[in-house]
Amino acid sequence: MDMGHSQPCKHQAMPTKDPARPKKLRIAIDGPAGAGKSTVARKVADILGYTYLDTGAMYRALAVLALDRKISFDDHEALGEMAASVNMDAREDDGVFRVWIDGQEFTHRLRTPETDRAVKLISMAQPVRRVLVEIQRELARRGGVVMEGRDITSVVIPDAEVKVFLTADVNERARRRWVDLKNRGIDMSFEEVLAEMQARDAKDLEREWGKLVKVEDAVLIDSTDMSIDEVCRIIVGLCEARQRCSTV
Ligand code: DC
Repeated sequence: MDMGHSQPCKHQAMPTKDPARPKKLRIAIDGPAGAGKSTVARKVADILGYTYLDTGAMYRALAVLALDRKISFDDHEALGEMAASVNMDAREDDGVFRVWIDGQEFTHRLRTPETDRAVKLISMAQPVRRVLVEIQRELARRGGVVMEGRDITSVVIPDAEVKVFLTADVNERARRRWVDLKNRGIDMSFEEVLAEMQARDAKDLEREWGKLVKVEDAVLIDSTDMSIDEVCRIIVGLCEARQRCSTV
């Protein structure tokens, strides 16, 4: 783990009774696909009694809707209009992060290979990102959230109290995804999954808006040789340190 340039108690001078400050922390986690963000974020939220928010699922739901409506993924304006015109409800329910659009549930269609391909394209559309960033900021406003994605620390909540960049070696990330797909009955070779993962990394890094970056004050955690519990312990420790800092 690289503590980057973060200084655990640099916020000590912040006023402790500022009514505008959320009582509960906002934890922002970014990182590439397959680094374990969802599992870790869900678990940390569970431990702290916070709300878990999977922003990738929101992009995925809009990608499915665009496929259904046969909107061209090159037409960023049309995609943005679609995003702005619908009502999205995204939350954890019964241990599953679910997304509804205009009352229709999209959850079961979020993680198919077809959606994997479509979401890479829709996440390049700035008008779509603008709509989702606004929704995500509103969801984070009250604090008590663990939000994971690609641009959470850099764009959505750059002033989050705890910022983490969670990564892992690309072969290990591909292996995890391959096991996950296999468990869900989706038959792909490891080589195919690895190639897909590398393509997703490239898209995440080259996107003009909301590209994946490690912001300077995010704590870097490399989960290649770590268990989920170890990663969670580190993040919960960062939260405890942050809370201690702001109450002394
Ligand atoms: O985390 P995930 O693999 O479910 O994300 C799906 C896609 O959405 C991925 O291609 C990156 C994109 N995404 C994004 O651009 N910004 C986010 N905050 C979250 C996901």
